[in-house]
Amino acid sequence: MKNTFTMIDNQTGEKYEFSILESTRGPSVVDISTFYAKTGKFTFDNGFTSTASCTSTITFIDGLKGELRYRGITIEELASKHSYLEACYLLLNEKLPNERELLEFDLELRHRSLVHEKLRHLFAAFPAGAHPMASLSSAVAALSTFYYDHIQLSTEDNYQEMARRIIAKIPTLAAFSYRHSIGAPFIHPDIELSYSENFLYMIRAYPGGKMHRGVDGEKKIKPIEVKALDTIFTLHADHEQNASTTTVRSVASTGAHPYVAISAGISALWGRAHGGANESVIKQLEMIGSLENVDAFIARAKDPDDDFRLMGFGHRVYKNFDPRAKALKKLQDELKDELKLDSHLMEIAQRIEEIALNDEYFISRNLYPNIDFYSGVILTALGIPKSMFTPIFVIGRTVGWITQWIEFKKDTTMKIARPRQLYLGK
Ligand code: CMC
Repeated sequence: MKNTFTMIDNQTGEKYEFSILESTRGPSVVDISTFYAKTGKFTFDNGFTSTASCTSTITFIDGLKGELRYRGITIEELASKHSYLEACYLLLNEKLPNERELLEFDLELRHRSLVHEKLRHLFAAFPAGAHPMASLSSAVAALSTFYYDHIQLSTEDNYQEMARRIIAKIPTLAAFSYRHSIGAPFIHPDIELSYSENFLYMIRAYPGGKMHRGVDGEKKIKPIEVKALDTIFTLHADHEQNASTTTVRSVASTGAHPYVAISAGISALWGRAHGGANESVIKQLEMIGSLENVDAFIARAKDPDDDFRLMGFGHRVYKNFDPRAKALKKLQDELKDELKLDSHLMEIAQRIEEIALNDEYFISRNLYPNIDFYSGVILTALGIPKSMFTPIFVIGRTVGWITQWIEFKKDTTMKIARPRQLYLGK
């Protein structure tokens, strides 16, 4: 059997042969990099629905099976048996850490969580109420001015330090973005706290590190809240060549600074077709308002003349279920009794889910709830405001982006991203 793929141009009868490159998991690919040189034609693939843009060993998705793996380990195993920092270590180092490696990694991230005082002053330039995603994207781009030497990385240590630095600082910058948006004084990271607890602390604390006190005494951050947020970070840590990761790789391909590539990834994530969907889901549930309105909104989602879409439904890759959504639904059920999940919003969400999962329109288009459908209800129960849902996605995904950035830089075969077009103008 020949490991090639033959195409025939029916306009000329000419035959062309292309190599097939085998994968270790999932579909193999036809190497069409010589297509233009051989045929004088371009290929057209709006939205890259069939095009692999790189080789990768980081994350694997089987959309039909609903499978997601980081470095070969299933998301179910990572979410149930390992912490977010272990997942970060795994993505960056291609193996899970032992106890000592994890401790060193954790301590280093704690030490690096502070940001330069001058960077804090950047926020003063933003108007009151600035959306945290806009401030966060700007602050991460500004971080490149403080670590300009990361433009030139040569050793493995250089790469890893650059990655650990951004992973450590992103929760601090996200929390600053939030505090600025509500006009609250900034809270600096507490080196005594774990990665996920520290973020909740920076969002919730009063100056001096005090927490809101209810009539029942001082309110601490509950371990179950830390666990829930940690799991949410793990579920978001990477997702192979999605829109924001492709953006990060495109910026990498021009030789720009890694942190501006991450800033571009944050901007790409913000849109509601991508990471911004988590904020839109809750806004949409609030807009629907009550159970009796659900049918009317489902009808709108199905109407081809109405651009209304059910937020949190559908995925380019998952065509049976999103394993991250499954894990979050499980988490939601576990948390229901221990945290005050908004039962009213949950009722509306459950009704939408029931109808959509049994409706011909959604079934025939393989539209299932995705990760964003469930994360909002849990984040609301953690006291996280809607405007911070997508920044939380950013915190989780930063490790994925930077790992993909490093993989891109180390691949000497990669070229500048420069697609072609089908010109239809004058
Ligand atoms: N509600 C109603 N109809 C939908 C929806 C939806 N949420 N999503 C897709 N469709 C329909 C769409 O109208 C089209 O119908 P038709 O074939 O009759 O024209 C068909 O399903 C295929 O849609 P598409 O836009 O071609 O599919 P896509 O693969 O290009 O888009 C998507 C994927 C996620 C952008 C889209 O499903 C969507 O907009 N969903 C809502 C936003 C959302 O939840 N985004 C979060 C994605 S998961 C987080 C992440 O990883 O980014």
